[in-house]
Amino acid sequence: AHQWRGVIEEYRAWLPVSADTKPVTLCEGGTPLIEAQWLSERTRCEVRLKVEGDNPTGSFKDRGMTVAITKAAEAGARAVVCASTGNTSASMAAYAVRARLNPIVLVPHGRIAAGKMAQALMHGAQVIQVRGGFDDCLAIARGLSDDYPVALVNSVNRVRLQGQKTAAFEIVDAIGDAPDVHVMPVGNAGNISAYWLGYTEYARAGAASHSPRLWGFQAEGAAPIVRGAPVPDPETIASAIRVGNPASWDLAVNARDESSGRIDAVTDEQIMQAQRDLASHEGVFVEPGSAAGVAGLVAAADGGELDPGQSVVVTVTGHGLKDIDTALTGRGPVVDDVVDADVRAAARAAGLT
Ligand code: F0G
Repeated sequence: AHQWRGVIEEYRAWLPVSADTKPVTLCEGGTPLIEAQWLSERTRCEVRLKVEGDNPTGSFKDRGMTVAITKAAEAGARAVVCASTGNTSASMAAYAVRARLNPIVLVPHGRIAAGKMAQALMHGAQVIQVRGGFDDCLAIARGLSDDYPVALVNSVNRVRLQGQKTAAFEIVDAIGDAPDVHVMPVGNAGNISAYWLGYTEYARAGAASHSPRLWGFQAEGAAPIVRGAPVPDPETIASAIRVGNPASWDLAVNARDESSGRIDAVTDEQIMQAQRDLASHEGVFVEPGSAAGVAGLVAAADGGELDPGQSVVVTVTGHGLKDIDTALTGRGPVVDDVVDADVRAAARAAGLT
């Protein structure tokens, strides 16, 4: 039986590794591309979800991390560092220990989801909580890697984007061509840049007939690319994309413009609604930041900005179980003994009479 071998083995010829490179891998990638029936009806397009929460540490970050840690280990590094809103640090810690590298992570104090913090701690990372935001953490991480023999694996380390571009390859391989539109959340702006790399490389090689328009969505309170200026104190419930000065800003703008795409903002309310819609209609539970693309797609469809009948892929970037605090509001009643009335009430709520 064939087992998916991880993105380096599956796409070796497309990645900056040599024939001798031994991948540090958790068999990331190979994630589901599923039909989104509710979203398709809602938008009158053919919508698919690329479910990146199904990666080993629960987010798309694993695709870039396998390459970054493989290269760092090959170069003889002993420690690796990153700044993170939570997912990069969870991924880096897991891959680092596989390569016997010491992980050091910098995160905004009290501002990352509990599940992600648990991951970094369990994998044995040195966790430094910074009184500040992601952008402050990134500045400190850069300084650390300048002053000490520690490899920086944020997406300013461009091999991360090389690994992340494999998601575009998988989508084309699954559908047989590129979609018309590809939608995703934007935070530090690495992923949208990576998808553009992947799509354009495949198109150039003749593996796809065209590249899609890329539609990125930031949270309204953390939308520097939309505003055209850094946001000093970014704020949104979607902690994953709470970034005020994205490292890959220029690459993302280039991806937007070359693809005739767009980068716009969605409100926290739209994000939370999209998260609930995905969970309750599609059976896919994602973290809030991951729902920003869906929120943007629905808003565009409602606003008449999406021509019906197109092929659309939405990347949902991280698993819902990473960040459950907001999801837990609105739990049902607690009862001592379940009586017939409770069962009947639940049956009525489920639409039974
Ligand atoms: N979705 C999730 C779940 C993320 O964790 C991130 C970024 C993004 C979307 C945005 O991707 O930064 O490439 O534009 N998280 C980073 C981190 C910032 O530290 O985990 P991007």
